[in-house]
Amino acid sequence: MADLRFDGRVVVVTGAGAGLGKAYALLFASRGAKVVVNDLGGGRHGDGSSSKAADAVVDEIKRNGGTAVADYNSVVDGEKIIKTALDNFGRVDILINNAGILRDKSFAKITDQDWDLVHSVHLKGSFKTTQAAFPVFKKQNYGRIIMTASNSGLYGNFGQANYSSAKLGLVGLANTVAIEGRKNNIFCNVIVPTAASRLTEDILPPDLYAELKPELIAPVVAYLCHESCQENGSIIESAAGWAGRCTIVRANGSLLRRRPEDDVSIENVRDNWSIIRDISNAQRLESIQDATGALMSSLDGLRSGTDGVGGEESDVFQF
Ligand code: NAI
Repeated sequence: MADLRFDGRVVVVTGAGAGLGKAYALLFASRGAKVVVNDLGGGRHGDGSSSKAADAVVDEIKRNGGTAVADYNSVVDGEKIIKTALDNFGRVDILINNAGILRDKSFAKITDQDWDLVHSVHLKGSFKTTQAAFPVFKKQNYGRIIMTASNSGLYGNFGQANYSSAKLGLVGLANTVAIEGRKNNIFCNVIVPTAASRLTEDILPPDLYAELKPELIAPVVAYLCHESCQENGSIIESAAGWAGRCTIVRANGSLLRRRPEDDVSIENVRDNWSIIRDISNAQRLESIQDATGALMSSLDGLRSGTDGVGGEESDVFQF
């Protein structure tokens, strides 16, 4: 089969001056895309700014025969980044929301500034940049968007309450953008990377660090952004040359009363707790409509007194 190419496509990669963003920018450019290399060029904690990081990546792309332009705006001014794409290349097709900072502190010590800076770069920055690109995508009936989350957001991580809440917020943002974009062929997916970079140099175990090259994740992100890829609204984790889909599942759960006229007591909850939290038969619900549908069928079961209600002696009501 033919190589997957991005000729004629314009890709905006935020935070592309280093780490994962740099690997994405280089890969897209090597496959024919015109790339906007955005990077504020500041410190790891959101301090300062410089044009050096973005310029160095643009130079490398050009040396390799590719096409790229630098952009030094912060992602919180996302509309300026999209303007750079439109002014230089006349279009934008793909947006990789990747820029990020860390301000790790244990929960009790997080200041308003630690919270606001991290949320503004990750969550607001992705919102602003995506919102600026969205009307362009709609008009051309084509767009691919990546949000960058983290295992810290999916599972929590000591010292990262600000970061993990912003990262899981990006999953929620992607879920809704995926729904709103679908009819215009605008797909939005989430990447959950683990890679060696300045953000992780003192976090990841040293023996793993060498295996975690950003270049091993870049093809996963590029595939998700290719016109032939129909994935939408998914979370894809990738690291060290591995990738897999990640999803939220819901337990089968338990009815907590026998008849519609019954109340639910705290003891009913206690007595059914092992079933409430049992995910051995968990399902993935594909939409909010599925979740409402599942609720309705449990109510129907309750009304008809049929669906899964245990025998006379049973306190356990399943549906
Ligand atoms: P990195 O620090 O090497 O790259 C991030 C880049 O974003 C930097 O070049 C920085 O200058 C730029 N940046 C920061 N604030 C910006 C702003 N306001 N506007 C524009 N650019 C800005 O870090 P890395 O590891 O490559 O991270 C990329 C993304 O992946 C981040 O969103 C990070 O949270 C996420 N991530 C990384 C993981 C890893 O294992 N490296 C794990 C999970 C998520």
